[in-house]
Amino acid sequence: MKILVIGGGGREHAIIKKLKEDKRVETVYALPGNGGIAADAVCLGGSATDIPAALAAAKSNAVDFVVVAPDDPLVLGMVDALEAEGFPCFGPRKNAAIIEGSKAFSKDLMKKYGIPTASYETFTDLDKALSYVETCPLPTVVKADGLALGKGVLICETREQARDAVRSMMEGRLFGDSGATVVIEEFLTGPEVSVLSFTDGETVVPMVSSMDHKRALDGDRGLNTGGMGTVAPNPYYTSDISAQCMEKIFLPTIQAMKAEGRPFKGCLYFGLMLTPDGPKVIEYNCRFGDPETQVVLPLLESSLLEIMLAVSKGTLAQTEVRFSKKSACCVILASEGYPQKYKKGFPITLPETVANEQIYIAGAVEKDGHLLTNGGRVLGAMAVADDLPGAIDKSYTLADKIHFDNAFCRRDIGRRALKALEEKK
Ligand code: AMP
Ligand code: GLY
Repeated sequence: MKILVIGGGGREHAIIKKLKEDKRVETVYALPGNGGIAADAVCLGGSATDIPAALAAAKSNAVDFVVVAPDDPLVLGMVDALEAEGFPCFGPRKNAAIIEGSKAFSKDLMKKYGIPTASYETFTDLDKALSYVETCPLPTVVKADGLALGKGVLICETREQARDAVRSMMEGRLFGDSGATVVIEEFLTGPEVSVLSFTDGETVVPMVSSMDHKRALDGDRGLNTGGMGTVAPNPYYTSDISAQCMEKIFLPTIQAMKAEGRPFKGCLYFGLMLTPDGPKVIEYNCRFGDPETQVVLPLLESSLLEIMLAVSKGTLAQTEVRFSKKSACCVILASEGYPQKYKKGFPITLPETVANEQIYIAGAVEKDGHLLTNGGRVLGAMAVADDLPGAIDKSYTLADKIHFDNAFCRRDIGRRALKALEEKK
């Protein structure tokens, strides 16, 4: 089979490597792909949001299946356009991708169907939002309605911060039109868990849980990033909590989307907080997480291709989805200065990897036979081991063999997870 994967980051590299474990996969095309993905796929360049380019690539390469990985093409309706031309896809249609594309939509959905989440108010009027933050409990959380590269959430400790957040989103358009509507919600506390799931709109199969590390610096300090590292499974996510989530969150969400005439097919990502009142939804994403995918897919023992085809055909209930009992850790190597200003164009030296190790390239270009840094998050060093301490050790050993000027990584990926494991004993 010939497969087209839309996207060009570490997540897409992990998806492509996993797809290729199935012998039926002959060629993978990546749009745009990147200099590192080029070792595993034919990279087409261009932009992941270019729907006409995706259609043209699918046609000219006569692909059998398309995986649309990033949120923005999904929210724009790339799957609808490809399906209309007869290309089967993995990924939700536009009317279901709205679950990530609009926080106002997802909050209203949860309220209507009794799915646990932070209480909230939605505003399209600046003055009303400003008067609300004069009396709401503090801290409070101000969120831009639309996609904002994962940065549209401001946690405000004081009224002044809340006023500034509302003004900068609604008036200053800090996140462009994404901030024309804001959601202001209750501040929740507790460990965060990411649960990615496969769903064909009827059946939902959660993948192994994971833990992201969103802040740039050790000890969860510094600015929010796209994610500086991940571990799986997440030790806070016990079998008891997983059963609660299935009953109160996962199944009700799938049923709610179906009842709304927006059946969700693809990977639905549940961003959860395990609060003292039980698990609550912090956010939904209409796609695989990055860098969660880089620790979740290495633990998948079944064929990813088979599962993706089943999701697209609506036969997930009859398909095996089996995960290993091992653990995985992925350490992101970023360019010094990320998530703000950083330099790029430095040569990357990669070691040989052995079984149970992978290097997923996120931000790199190939030039004259050399791989050069080309982004904030450059790559992820991933290792699988029998237990979490082993996986953390191995992924740092691998990360320390990788070199480029101005590289930095957090040194404490998985430390909180290890503490949770200790506390369980
Ligand atoms: P989001 O983009 O919605 O995932 O939010 C980014 C991060 O902000 C989350 O991973 C949480 O750490 C934090 N966050 C979002 N909503 C809340 C909330 N209601 N209470 C506490 N923290 C939150
Ligand atoms: N790692 C968080 C996300 O993919 O949204």
